[in-house]
Amino acid sequence: MRLFATGVTVVLTPKDDDVHGMTANAVSSISLDPPLVMLALGNETKMNAALAEGTAFSINVLEARQSSFADRFAGRWSWSADACEISWLGDAPTVAGALASLVCVVESRTPAGDHTMILGRVLKAQHTEGTPLIFFNGRWTSFPGPDDVFLLDRREFREELHRALAVDPASTALVTVDMTRGHLDPELATMPLPPDAAVSVVERTRVVLDALRERDCPIVHVTLHFAPDDILRNPFCRAVDESSAGLIPWRKTLISEHNPRGSTQAAIVGELAPLPGEVVIDDKHRPSAFFETRLEAVLGDLGVDTIVLAGVNTNTSIMHTAFDAFCRDFRVVVLSDCTISMYGPDLHELALKNIEYALGWVATSSELLARLDQGAALAPQTS
Ligand SMILES: Cc1cc2nc3c(=O)[nH]c(=O)nc-3n(C[C@H](O)[C@H](O)[C@H](O)COP(=O)(O)O)c2cc1C
Repeated sequence: MRLFATGVTVVLTPKDDDVHGMTANAVSSISLDPPLVMLALGNETKMNAALAEGTAFSINVLEARQSSFADRFAGRWSWSADACEISWLGDAPTVAGALASLVCVVESRTPAGDHTMILGRVLKAQHTEGTPLIFFNGRWTSFPGPDDVFLLDRREFREELHRALAVDPASTALVTVDMTRGHLDPELATMPLPPDAAVSVVERTRVVLDALRERDCPIVHVTLHFAPDDILRNPFCRAVDESSAGLIPWRKTLISEHNPRGSTQAAIVGELAPLPGEVVIDDKHRPSAFFETRLEAVLGDLGVDTIVLAGVNTNTSIMHTAFDAFCRDFRVVVLSDCTISMYGPDLHELALKNIEYALGWVATSSELLARLDQGAALAPQTS
C-alpha cells in the first residue's frame, strides 16, 4: 500500500477544551446520499479513543505546502515551526487553509483487526483552490506547479556509469565534511537536522569509517569554523543573517552564531571522532573543503585518486567539495546515506542528482563497500 498514492488529511476533534489532531490517509468517500465518509483509525491512537459515536470531527485535506502539519500530527519531526491555525466550522475545529474540510459526526464504529472503521456523516463542507499534498512510498510529494522543475529520466546514463565504477582501496580516501555537533547533536545544534535522519547518517557513516579503517584507507576529517567578521563579509550570508528568513526552511538561522572556533558545536560528533593519526582540517570557512585549506596538499601526499564524501550539507559543502575535487581530477563518490541537508530533503535530493549527472558517482554506503571489495580483488597483488 506504500505504492498507493493518496492525498493526506488531518483529522481534528474537540477534546477537553482543546483540539486533538491526527494525520490520516486511510480515508475514503463511501456514500453520497446520505453523505458518508470512512476513516480507519489504529486502535491504539488517541483519535480512536476520542471519536465515540456522535462526536464531531473534521477531515481536512491538506494543501501541498502543509506537509509540516502532516508531520506534526503524525508525531514526526517537522521542517517547519509554522503553527497550524484552527478555524471553527459548526461544531468542529478545522485546519485553516486546507484544500477541503469536511465536518462530520461519528455515525458508527466497526472493529477491523488492529484498526477501527469510523463512518462519519458529513454535516458541512468547504474548499479552496490549490494543489493537494500527496503521500507516496513513505514520502510527501505533490503535482508540479508552475515553478516546479521536472527532472529528465537519466537512469540509463546512471546505470552505465555505475557499471564502470571501480574503487581501489589502495588509492581511496574518505573525507568527512562538517560532521559537527552544531548540525548533528540535537541538544546543541545551532543549525539542526531532523534528529532521526541525523542519527541514521551518523550510524551509516560510522559503518563506513570502520570499514575503511579496516582496509587501511586514509580518513580526512574537515570541519568548518565561522567567525562572524569573516562569514558576514559574504553578501548572501549577511542578507540571510539580517532577514527573518532561515536557511532551514521556515526557521530563522543566525549564521553568525553557528560553529564559532573552539565551541562545543564546532566539534565532530563523538561517534565519528578522528582516531590518532587521522588528518583533521579544521579551518574550512566556506562550503568547499578545498577553499583556503590544505586538503589538496594532504590528498596529494596520500597519493589517492578517489575521494569518498560523507557529511553536511549535501547541497552546499558536499556539492562544492565534489565540484572542486572534480576540477582537480579526482574520482568523486558521494554517499547518499551518509550525507544530509538542513536545507531540506528536496535540496539534498537535487544536489545528489546534480552530482551524479554532472561530475561524480552517488552510491549508498553498502554499494561503496561492495565496490571496494571488488576493487581489492582486481588490484595487482604485491608480494
Ligand atoms: C501519511 C500518514 C498517514 C497516516 N494515516 C493514518 C491512518 O489513516 N490511520 C491511523 O490510524 N494512523 C495513520 N497515521 C499514523 C498517525 O498519524 C499517528 O499514529 C499519530 O501519531 C496518531 O496520533 P494520536 O495517537 O495522537 O491520535 C498516518 C501517518 C502518516 C504519516
